Amino acid sequence: MLGGAVISHLLTLPHAPYHILALTRNPTSPAALKLSASGVEVTHADLDDAPSLEAALRNVHAVFLVTDFWSCPSPGASREIAQAKRVLDILSRSPSLEHLIYSSLPSVREASQGRYQAVVHFDGKADVVQWLKETHEGLWGKTTVLWVGTYMQLWKQFRAIFAPAAKVIEGKEVWVQSSVFHPESRLPLVDVRDVGKAVSSILGDAEGLKGRTVSLVAPEQVTMKEQLDVWGRLVGKEVAFRHISEEESWEGIKELGFEEFLAKDVWETGVAFRECEGRLLHGDAVVQVSEVRD
Ligand SMILES: NC(=O)c1ccc[n+]([C@@H]2O[C@H](COP(=O)([O-])OP(=O)(O)OC[C@H]3O[C@@H](n4cnc5c(N)ncnc54)[C@H](OP(=O)(O)O)[C@@H]3O)[C@@H](O)[C@H]2O)c1
Repeated sequence: MLGGAVISHLLTLPHAPYHILALTRNPTSPAALKLSASGVEVTHADLDDAPSLEAALRNVHAVFLVTDFWSCPSPGASREIAQAKRVLDILSRSPSLEHLIYSSLPSVREASQGRYQAVVHFDGKADVVQWLKETHEGLWGKTTVLWVGTYMQLWKQFRAIFAPAAKVIEGKEVWVQSSVFHPESRLPLVDVRDVGKAVSSILGDAEGLKGRTVSLVAPEQVTMKEQLDVWGRLVGKEVAFRHISEEESWEGIKELGFEEFLAKDVWETGVAFRECEGRLLHGDAVVQVSEVRD
């Protein structure tokens, strides 16, 4: 989604200011062929394979880097971390690179002062940034870290976790959202399509944003109950919000059949987000995307 959103937006810019190169494991997939047809150069590369990355990243000037924890989940996010470091090692030697935008996330471990240690799909990406600062000072000086809030699209993508489920209550169909969040909790949401515009603005303000972290969260945060009410109105369904205990939430996530470390990651993400509300994608040193010059 993130890579696609960036390319879609860059393709709308007048006078085609960028020659766009998209990396994929499968350049003949329908999605890749569609990109090729729209004028994007599509090339094979695999984040697990350094030689393919070396070849694909030759002569790049700006890179938007996303690693996908969910397509290769591993305890401690070790595989995702190795993929990111592989790309960063290569980019650190690139004579042509001027700007790297790395899609990372803040450390839940740090934000919760060590209370939550299982949200490895956040902490792994934060650890990569720390490693980058410590080991590749030159590349860090060319890097903007981008934190993207929770996609609004997750309602569709992970229905079992995010979307309400139909129940019959007193003979009536009611769509019930069972959640460890409180009805008044606010999630740092974002429409994933806005990532393209954010990345384009960051590229346009490159010098001011190197060595900085930019956070992309919609400025108005609606509550969980408000989200559900909007959905109910749009699809014409009766809805109800049901706040469940941490224990019930844990049992529900285990039933989805995740491996233990993944179940813990998913569960702690919810609980930690609820507790750290408002703090997780903010910080004194963090630039909100609304402050980036358009
Ligand atoms: N969901 C959220 O709210 C949210 C918010 C912020 C950040 N994130 C992070 O975003 C990441 C997922 O990104 P997304 O939502 O854009 O996922 P996505 O739509 O599923 O896309 C994943 C992309 O990663 C590529 N990919 C996966 N493994 C690869 C490999 N070994 N080599 C090369 N390319 C590979 C895939 O390309 P091909 O299949 O074409 O090779 C695909 O284009 C996760 O790490 C997640 O933590 C998510």
